[in-house]
This record gives sequence, structure tokens and C-alpha cells, in this order.
Amino acid sequence: MPVPVEEVIDISKQYKSPLFTHLSLRIPSRGLIFVHGPNGSGKSTLLRILALMEPPDSGEILLMGRRVGRVRVRDYHIYSQFISYSFQEPKLLPLSVEENLSIPTKVSYKRRDELLERLDLSPLLKKKASKLSGGEKKRADITRAVMRETPLLIMDEPLAFLDPEYRGLVKELVLEEAGRRAVVVSATEPVREFEEGAVVELNTSDLRR
Ligand SMILES: Nc1ncnc2c1ncn2[C@@H]1O[C@H](COP(=O)(O)OP(=O)(O)OP(=O)(O)O)[C@@H](O)[C@H]1O
Ligand SMILES: [Mg+2]
Repeated sequence: MPVPVEEVIDISKQYKSPLFTHLSLRIPSRGLIFVHGPNGSGKSTLLRILALMEPPDSGEILLMGRRVGRVRVRDYHIYSQFISYSFQEPKLLPLSVEENLSIPTKVSYKRRDELLERLDLSPLLKKKASKLSGGEKKRADITRAVMRETPLLIMDEPLAFLDPEYRGLVKELVLEEAGRRAVVVSATEPVREFEEGAVVELNTSDLRR
């Protein structure tokens, strides 16, 4: 069996109260993992842990078969070669869309331009990110993550802020990406198209204070 892109073993995390306990997850080199649950159930926290932006309280994480210890901020670039991340709240720099999409990574312009066309962002390339609408920001943030050809793509609520047409386009894109690499996506509600792969359901009902 091929080595999974990432494996979390028996991880637990709590802030004021527990979010998840003894969670194990194997992320194969291709396919979709869909994390869903209500507001505050820990989806973004789990995704940040998978992206190595934050450590679990306990448990182990293996990336490409190697155990990951404490990740220091200054070493994050080593791990980010393997992981692309799209934030729930788009995080764009106060620059043009084009400049936001040209942060030096191994990205081909062909790939970038295909994605821009698909998500109708080409006409907005020269526009300042601060002047985009919520949905436009979200599509730009998604483009920035998807254009990087990393083995693992993590997208926190990629359907948020989008109208039904763009939700459809992004669902298609997510499924297409999952056909060739490991993709983790989250949403607050069940999404039929995302339920073909593994589903992680986080629930606050039994943990809520
Ligand atoms: N850095 C932090 N410090 C303290 N508490 C936190 C922190 N990050 C998240 N929390 C708390 O942990 C819980 C889970 O937050 P998280 O953002 O992971 O939920 P979520 O499922 O992504 O919610 P949403 O659907 O609203 O995006 C919340 O109660 C939140 O207040
Ligand atoms: Mg969240």
C-alpha cells in the first residue's frame, strides 16, 4: 500500500473544552476527505492541525511517512512544500490580485491562468484585493491554494461566501483535484458531492458545555 500523504494518530485537542479526542485519520495520496460539523465543532482547528499550523495536544502526525515534531514558524516553509491551504476567511495581502497570486512558488502561469479563467477572476487580475467582494476574495484565495501542485490540498469551507453558480464550479474543481491528489475540505452542512470519499463528522452536541 502506498504511504499516505499524512496520517494523524490518536490526536486530541481542546481549548476551553474538548473539540476532539483520540481522532485518527489516514489521508491517502489521492481522494477527498470531507470534514463537516456545526459552527464551533472544531473543523478549522482540525484543518490547521492537518496543515501543521498548530499542534494537537496529544497524538502523532506523520507527513509523507515521517513523524512531525514541533513545527517552528521559521521551518514552516519546509512543510508548506507539501501542503496548500485555503483559509475560511480569505487572507489576501493588500496588493493586487495578480501580486497575491505571484508569491514565489513552483507555479506555472498556464495553471494559474486556467484557474483564473475557470473562476472568472481574469478581469480582476489588476484589481486591489481590498476592493474585491467577499466571493471574489474567496475565489482568489482558493486559486492561490489550488494553483500550487502540492500533494495535499486543504480548503477550509471553500463554498462559503459563494453564490450557487460558483459553489457548483468550486465543487467541480474540488472533485477534479481529488482525482489526482489528497484533498481535505470542510463545510458546516453535508455536501452530497463531497460525501463520496471519507467523511469526518465533528459534533459538538456531546461535548458542548
Ligand atoms: N486559538 C483559539 N483559542 C481558543 N479557542 C479557540 C481557538 N480557536 C478556536 N477556538 C474555539 O474552538 C472552537 C472550535 O473552533 P473552530 O474554528 O475550529 O470551529 P469550526 O468548526 O471551524 O467553526 P465554524 O463553522 O464557525 O468555522 C470554538 O469554540 C472556538 O471558539
Ligand atoms: Mg471554521
